[in-house]
Amino acid sequence: MQIGFGMPDRETFARFSHDMLGFPTTDSSDGNVTYMRVDRYPHRLAARTAPEPVLNYIGFDVGGRDALDEWKAKLAAQDIDWRAGNKEECLERQVADFIEFRDPDGHPLALAHGFEIDKEPVRYTRELNVTGLGHVLLTVKDTQRSHDFYTGVLGFRLSDWVCIDDHIRLCFLRCNARHHSIAFAPCMPGKSPRLQHVMLEVGSLDDVMRSYHFLRTRGAPIGMGPGRHPNCQTIHVYVQTPGGFAVEFGWGHRRLEDATHQPIVYPSGTPVDVWGGDVQSAEFELG
Ligand SMILES: [Fe+2]
Repeated sequence: MQIGFGMPDRETFARFSHDMLGFPTTDSSDGNVTYMRVDRYPHRLAARTAPEPVLNYIGFDVGGRDALDEWKAKLAAQDIDWRAGNKEECLERQVADFIEFRDPDGHPLALAHGFEIDKEPVRYTRELNVTGLGHVLLTVKDTQRSHDFYTGVLGFRLSDWVCIDDHIRLCFLRCNARHHSIAFAPCMPGKSPRLQHVMLEVGSLDDVMRSYHFLRTRGAPIGMGPGRHPNCQTIHVYVQTPGGFAVEFGWGHRRLEDATHQPIVYPSGTPVDVWGGDVQSAEFELG
């Protein structure tokens, strides 16, 4: 998975990524894109300059050219308009090929193959080990509608629903053994659908706690954590970035087996953190 987004002040975001998150950053040759390297891929996150924070794409790896061709036919059969990525865009995203379309909220989704790999070890700017990009959380107008689209059209599997209260119902879907690769929360009143957070899976509990203290002592806006989620059991810390979304450093994320897992509904009143933690900074919003 890779994620492209835009924000007004790309320089501040790049500095935050480098100095706080711990990621080496590079610019594309034309200078229009800032890449953040977090693991074995040359980048997972790509920032462009935009008038306001915007999600440009979430790119999923479908595994190969044949699979991508199958998806083209599948989407067309379901009357979903897709467009093919052009050569410049493929170069920019460091993939061989992709197609792109929108979900019911207008979130742009890309299906891609041929992701480049960087064999050089990552030179984090602080002590850190990221093992992969775990998931994204999107805010949406109607979590049931999103559930129906992602399970029905794209083949995601339902892991569970978490009911924070009678109105806020979070939906967690998987496409591999991870408990979830995508999750949905309802938009807060007056807010538009957006990228709420990106979860980076780290190698150890130490990486979570080290990140927490590093960010805390430097005054970065901690969103939540350290805490533990009730459903996926991830031990997490969230930090709000200047890009308008948060980054979650998480460890202990549960793996599920399709053959045995039955979807669960966590009842109204389920906390997002079983340790009782709460939102810690005003910039961090759940919806
Ligand atoms: Fe998360």
